[in-house]
Amino acid sequence: MALDSTQTSDGFPIPAGVFAQTVTEVAHYTDRLFRFRITRPASFRFRSGEFLMIGLPNAEKPVFRAYSVASPSWDDALEFYSIKVPGGPLTEHLQKIREGDTVLMRKKPTGTLVLDALLPGKRLWMFSTGTGIAPFASLIRDPETYEKFDEVILTQTCRTVAELRYGQDLAAAVKEDPLVGEMAQRLRHYCTVTREDFPVRGRITDLMASGQLFNDLGVDPITPERDRGMICGSMEMLKDTKAALEGFGLVEGSNNRPDTFVVERAFVD
Ligand code: A2P
Repeated sequence: MALDSTQTSDGFPIPAGVFAQTVTEVAHYTDRLFRFRITRPASFRFRSGEFLMIGLPNAEKPVFRAYSVASPSWDDALEFYSIKVPGGPLTEHLQKIREGDTVLMRKKPTGTLVLDALLPGKRLWMFSTGTGIAPFASLIRDPETYEKFDEVILTQTCRTVAELRYGQDLAAAVKEDPLVGEMAQRLRHYCTVTREDFPVRGRITDLMASGQLFNDLGVDPITPERDRGMICGSMEMLKDTKAALEGFGLVEGSNNRPDTFVVERAFVD
């Protein structure tokens, strides 16, 4: 029997402006974190760093939540990195998806963590905590990032060592990638942990304030002439990291008004 194109196989409606895609891969990292990949609609275009709305076909009116696309814009699949929120209206169900299941995505991507929202510079800093690494997972795999910047520094701070795994695997894999591997030798990945033993301990804001971040990397502190920033994390982390960058003289920009740094919330919490 032919499937009605406006329904999923479970008989739930596919709302207007939504693609129904198939899950191709799921990997769980911790009891709080997982990654999944879905097929990419042939007509879907986005800029690395953007986000879109994701839902499940499990209700007449599905719940949608914002997710940064973690895969680069040249990839033929779409990847997402998610937290599992106990009792969360979407992630409670989303964390149970398996290969072959259907995921809904709204057709229009958007967001400010895009290269177009930054003025030209020499060094790009990407500051993330937790699942805030997702948009940067896309950007560090995009050749344009390395065409626009001589140096690329990705920082991630997590509570525990296990939560760093996704980013560490990715940063290692990108250096071996046939398309961007050579350019990505200029990527530096700086990991810090706040609630367990690790070579670098502490919040990125404190490490910037003490100067340890710059000492560890052997680079000069941030200047508005040379450095550009992108920030993705919790509301509190955004506020404090934004204040730190403003302290170095950087100014927040947007798609309409590019400047020296941009911010976006790590959405699902
Ligand atoms: P901490 O353990 O000191 O709270 P979360 O999982 O709560 O989103 O936190 C992810 C990481 O972000 C944790 O390592 C956490 O450190 C850190 N963090 C939380 N709030 C801030 C903030 N205001 N500025 C910088 N880092 C923060």
